[in-house]
Amino acid sequence: MNHIRTVNGGGNLQGELKVPGDKSISHRSLIIGSMAQGETFIKGFLHSEDPLSTADCLRKLGVNIPEIKENESFSFKGLGLDGFNEPKEILNCGNSGTTMRLLMGLLAGQEGKNFVLTGDTSLRERPMGRVSKPLSMMGATFLGRENGKKAPISIGGSQLKGCVIGTPVASAQVKSAILLAGLNASGTTSVIEPASSRDHTERMLKAFGADINIRGEFGRNVVIKPGKTLIGQKILIPGDISSAAFWMIAASIVPNSEVLIKDIGLNPTRTGILNVMDLMGCNYEIVEKSIVAGELIGSINVKTANNLRPFSIAGDILPKLIDEIPILTVAACFCQGVSEIKDAKELRVKETDRLKVMARQLRKFGAKISEKEDGLIINGESKFNSAEVDSETDHRVSMSLAIASLLAKGSSRIFRADASNVSYPTFWEDLEKLIN
Ligand code: S3P
Repeated sequence: MNHIRTVNGGGNLQGELKVPGDKSISHRSLIIGSMAQGETFIKGFLHSEDPLSTADCLRKLGVNIPEIKENESFSFKGLGLDGFNEPKEILNCGNSGTTMRLLMGLLAGQEGKNFVLTGDTSLRERPMGRVSKPLSMMGATFLGRENGKKAPISIGGSQLKGCVIGTPVASAQVKSAILLAGLNASGTTSVIEPASSRDHTERMLKAFGADINIRGEFGRNVVIKPGKTLIGQKILIPGDISSAAFWMIAASIVPNSEVLIKDIGLNPTRTGILNVMDLMGCNYEIVEKSIVAGELIGSINVKTANNLRPFSIAGDILPKLIDEIPILTVAACFCQGVSEIKDAKELRVKETDRLKVMARQLRKFGAKISEKEDGLIINGESKFNSAEVDSETDHRVSMSLAIASLLAKGSSRIFRADASNVSYPTFWEDLEKLIN
């Protein structure tokens, strides 16, 4: 169904809200809980399409995960490291790259069992060779389109051996797949990334009792040894900073706004957006900081800032704000000068080619953006006119375009707006509540 949403420009945003649970931590809570012995209790789980795809796949692998209801905690028993069943069905990962890549790591070491993974049209075009290649070095067997580089992919579970693996891209999904495989391998597995990516897997595995160590400059080397039994834990999932980002930027650029976003995860591998907001000269304050289950949490109060400065994003910060590039592109349109996003080729292999799609859609409002091979150049001080825009099925594009529409003169329409259900099903209700 083609969901169209209408957003009127000219208002402002006021109020307080909690955004849904962190998507990365939600996936990991199910996967690592499934590999543990005993019960895992989860509070704050993100009830959206992507983590629910992970739940569905794990149930097909024999994990007794109850029906997950919005805003309700739940618990389930893990199967241990190698207790997964050979499913009678194909595992459908939907739109979720995290589901597919992390499950490839988990299933590669399930000796003597076979599995088939697939996904939606977008996921079947995304690169899986970055996971199947290093896992094959550990002894795993993958068959799939383009020599195991694209789904549908079949996995022949094998006895794996630990390896030292240097990954060519800084990707938490790739790193996590290798670490999960390392739990079932013989010997030590060591992953070295070109820049450090989000570390939720490492933190959670440590909390579950895994023998895992972080080494090297900026923690780019993670070493895991098998032999420890994972023990089920209580997991409290904070709000997703990647969902909060829409309101953090909206409140900064929409005149006369003030929004307080409560209890969001502030893990330092995720807070690159705050560095960019500092460069821009945004007006925000972090309050009520605390540590919950090994993750830093806080609330952020953001007020409109005038005369925002343009910014440049490049290099090692990219993994720390990889999912925020679409909304930061919107922000750049309202800074006083030219902003540049570089070293962002990864954006081309997300749910859509986010460089192309954001440039194409924002130009409809009148944005001045040029696309480079690895990034974007955005002229600020835009005057947006209302437009008919399209998410092109990408959740973060859909929500970024909604925020852009708030700055447009008149009433804009967003086609395929329901793409937001992938990570933030209550986004449109929250927008309604905040808008004045
Ligand atoms: C994720 C890692 C990131 C991110 C994605 C979620 C994760 O992808 O874009 O939304 O949960 O590990 P990459 O690690 O592939 O960059």
